[in-house]
Amino acid sequence: MTEKTSLWGGRFSGGPADALARLSVSVQFDWRLAPYDIAGSRAHARVLAAAGLLDPDELGQMLAALDDLEAACASGEFRPTIDDEDVHTALERGLLERLGTLGGKLRAGRSRNDQVATDLRLYLRDHARGLAVALVELADALTEQAALNVNTAAPGMTHLQHAQPVTFGHWLLAHVQPLLRDLERLRDWDSRAAISPLGSGALAGSSLPLDPAAVAKELGFTAPAPNSMDAVADRDFVAEFLFVTALIGVHLSRLGEEVVLWTSTEFGWVELDDAFATGSSIMPQKKNADIAELARGKSGRLIGGLVTVLTMLKGLPLTYDRDMQEDKEPAFDAIETLGLLLPALAGMISTMTVRVDRLAAATPVGFSLATEVADWLVRRGVPFREAHEITGQLVALCSVRGCELEDLTDDDLKTVSGHLDPSVRNVLTVESALASRTTPGSTGPGPVADQLATVQHKLDSWRQWAVEKVVPR
Ligand code: ARG
Repeated sequence: MTEKTSLWGGRFSGGPADALARLSVSVQFDWRLAPYDIAGSRAHARVLAAAGLLDPDELGQMLAALDDLEAACASGEFRPTIDDEDVHTALERGLLERLGTLGGKLRAGRSRNDQVATDLRLYLRDHARGLAVALVELADALTEQAALNVNTAAPGMTHLQHAQPVTFGHWLLAHVQPLLRDLERLRDWDSRAAISPLGSGALAGSSLPLDPAAVAKELGFTAPAPNSMDAVADRDFVAEFLFVTALIGVHLSRLGEEVVLWTSTEFGWVELDDAFATGSSIMPQKKNADIAELARGKSGRLIGGLVTVLTMLKGLPLTYDRDMQEDKEPAFDAIETLGLLLPALAGMISTMTVRVDRLAAATPVGFSLATEVADWLVRRGVPFREAHEITGQLVALCSVRGCELEDLTDDDLKTVSGHLDPSVRNVLTVESALASRTTPGSTGPGPVADQLATVQHKLDSWRQWAVEKVVPR
């Protein structure tokens, strides 16, 4: 092939300037869309044949050439060249190489505008499943660690200060719940993304008797787009997808930050496996939680991708504008970023060792049982406002004395309030604090075991969704 393939040029006197060509080319990133573009071409060839625009023999040749081209793309035997402006141009060249002039028939009734919107929907729908698989793996790792720590006491915090005892299993599951919501968001997004733009042409539909519903069905979409102008102008599906990935990034950053804290010498609650930690080039003793830090750091680019696409879309006139070519790299980057991050996090979590002894020692520190005293008073009819005040006085007394609540004498208790008596000490243990948390969703071992079972059940159903095929073939 010596002639350069271009999808336009009839009305132009010369070729494009190098500077234009270099700016305009997108094939270096949109080549990822090739298998989806070919799936769309197959569906389009069939409706052209149904409309009598390809005879049965031509359709047979077209489909065989598309199969061959698909295999050649997959094996790497067919590659885009720097002269191919985009994936659509490269694939038309591949088709012309195989079919000669017959290859030129496929573009009838179709435009890169409806093609690219279709390809990107298919690509993202497909990769949303891959993302779901990786999310489930991380959720599994957290859930398995939670199962080992249903009874492990930990110092629950607010404002990063010791607040109330919790079970570490509950804490770990608190990182699983956002991931379950992310999975729901992906599936919910998918139902809106499952609309087929093919048949919209450049913007106005086609004068040829095509069948957008048949194309939509073949490509696994639920319906063809109801408005051809909207179909080629709409990138909500990209922005929404990037919101989901940005929020996943934020969730992972919060998990990452906690692992950084937990593995610090000051906390020492968790020890990372050597395979999932890094060392320092100068300080031989260092063991760093780089995966957790990268989880924190990569949230920036995930949020940036969303901002990039929303800003690009803002104020664009209908319908297609070339600005929209900028929608793809952030989406690809989000998928690739999470594709690297999620397995690393899953490995780090599943291999970490929880230091139950260190957690137990830290749990009662910082008067974390003070609320137990206040609740004890409430059970005896003292209004919470007063109970809070009395308990505060106990804490103040301990602070002055440098002791813990359980060290106060019977006399101390009496002096602070006539409502107090020595039996209050029964609630001043971490075990009793945890055991008393029996309401659904709370941190006691009972409700946590229930939560664990529900989470495991949900993850099983997500595992099934994640392997569903988008393009039925
Ligand atoms: N590379 C383009 C994109 O990503 C494909 C559509 C081009 N359409 C056009 N009319 N120039 O958006």
